[in-house]
Amino acid sequence: MCGIVGYIGKQQAAPILLEGLKKLEYRGYDSAGVAVRDGAKSIQVVKAKGKLSVLAQKTEDGKALYGTCGIGHTRWATHGEPDERNAHPHRSTDGSVAVVHNGILENYRELREELKDCGYTFASQTDTEVIANLIDFYLKRDRKGAAEAISRFMERARGSYAIAVMFEEFAGELYLARKDSPMIVGEGEGEMFVASDAAAILRHTRKVYFVDDFTLACVRADGVRFFDISGNPIPKEYQLLDIDAEAAGKGGYEHFMRKEIYEQPRAVSDTLSHYIKEGDIDLGISLHGVKQITVVACGSAYHVGVTLQYAIEKLARIPVRVELASEFRYRDPILGEGTLVVAVSQSGETADTLAAVREAKKRGARTLGIVNVLGSSVAREADDVLYTYAGPEIAVATTKAYSAQLALGYLVALVLGKNNKTLSEEQFARYVSALQELPSKIEETLRSESEIKAFAARHADVHDVFMIGRGIDYAVCMEGALKLKEVSYVHTEAYAAGELKHGTISLVEEGTLVLGVLTQSGVFEKTASNLEETSSRGAIVATVGTKKLCEGQFFPIPETEEPFAASLAVLPLQLLAYHISVCRGLDVDKPRNLAKSVTVE
Ligand code: AGP
Repeated sequence: MCGIVGYIGKQQAAPILLEGLKKLEYRGYDSAGVAVRDGAKSIQVVKAKGKLSVLAQKTEDGKALYGTCGIGHTRWATHGEPDERNAHPHRSTDGSVAVVHNGILENYRELREELKDCGYTFASQTDTEVIANLIDFYLKRDRKGAAEAISRFMERARGSYAIAVMFEEFAGELYLARKDSPMIVGEGEGEMFVASDAAAILRHTRKVYFVDDFTLACVRADGVRFFDISGNPIPKEYQLLDIDAEAAGKGGYEHFMRKEIYEQPRAVSDTLSHYIKEGDIDLGISLHGVKQITVVACGSAYHVGVTLQYAIEKLARIPVRVELASEFRYRDPILGEGTLVVAVSQSGETADTLAAVREAKKRGARTLGIVNVLGSSVAREADDVLYTYAGPEIAVATTKAYSAQLALGYLVALVLGKNNKTLSEEQFARYVSALQELPSKIEETLRSESEIKAFAARHADVHDVFMIGRGIDYAVCMEGALKLKEVSYVHTEAYAAGELKHGTISLVEEGTLVLGVLTQSGVFEKTASNLEETSSRGAIVATVGTKKLCEGQFFPIPETEEPFAASLAVLPLQLLAYHISVCRGLDVDKPRNLAKSVTVE
């Protein structure tokens, strides 16, 4: 939920920290701060409420702070108001320990009371200040050095953390510790970097170490040493990242969201081509023995699950349940023999989804992650992982990762269908071929953007919208509704078209905007009738589909195999949300109240 960075080396740290935080602002942006140290001089801390630009201004883009060692933080508030007092870095009472933290210390209240009894005081409402004082307490009590003090903290901590720590006593060193929240260490020439994810340090290095759970580390300019919680050294190899630094930029688009909408053909093509080899599908894992599937996910990833439920049940005749991860983890789930729990997550760090994976494993179920971020927590904790190859997704509202997840899910459905012999060889080949045509059909669909943009301009002041469909079309409506809510703040409801008449249609009045999705031939005539029921009550109707079945604006999409139609029907809805947001002058890439990765409950 927050972004942390660190630097130690030969360059001035502050400008590098600010540059890294800029790349991480999508993880949270209600306040920011840096701690910098010049040699053995005292640590300097500067913090600011609001977006990173305020801190940059306060530190003259970092030039006002001298020192080649530092840590930084951009925040999405979880404990305490998003103000300067609660901004990170936080220091111990005597200022000798400075900490930046991503995560939640669940037992911070009891620890704070204990520390108060030992004479510590607290200037903020945050759990992070408790971490700084707790580490300081152990450092002073045990006199066994920084790593030991951090280990003691880790033994007491409940919850999630990725922390970077500076000590007045230990110049030339940064310390790290991690449980559940993401963190990497980058290695340069005579300099080292720390970050929540690679976007922050790509310009400097591609050599990275993924910090594992319950691991701590000491970082100096000449390298990093990892330890387990008992202080035993852990040898680790670096990985070379092949993410293109340019890909983390906007590439000439005004917003990341529109750039990523147009990257969907490539994201789908890269994902499919990774697994389709000479007309066959090689997932690299066996799916034999899967008798039923439970998908656990949140938000758009959940909508992927709903779509895949229809696709897998149609193609493989395997029962699929789709559960909101935040519900699954507390419902004492029944996971029968042969159940495969599939966790869908772009970031691989969504707290609810990660907890659902752990719950499933605890109950003996096999777990599979469908994840976009290499080395993320869900990827490493699920029994198996299938990566999507959408590349870094920066806009808070997901588009290309969603589409890549769909594509990968279709591959899973086809492999299951082949395993279960519910697909003949001819059918299998036909579906694989249809998938390979999807990227060009996505490109074709995006060519109707100008009509969508004009429609958005006409309806930019809309207040209430319904999106209705049946089957896969209903699942598309869920995603379209979330997009419009997320980036345009328009109250939008996705509704099963057949259910509208059971009460909610009472909300339809003159001028209500109702969008229908009609791609499933077995039901789209019925949805057309439902749309008529709304237009006869004054609604403005528009449709997305392969055939024009209603009066009103029509956004055509190319034909494809119906289990895959969601990949095309969603596109006009993504563009509609984007353009209404732009018309309203909103922050498309960083909508209010949201963050890209929800790593707290
Ligand atoms: C999607 O546009 C939203 N940003 C949000 O619903 C997101 O899909 C959800 O938080 C799940 O994130 P994940 O895929 O990283 O787990």
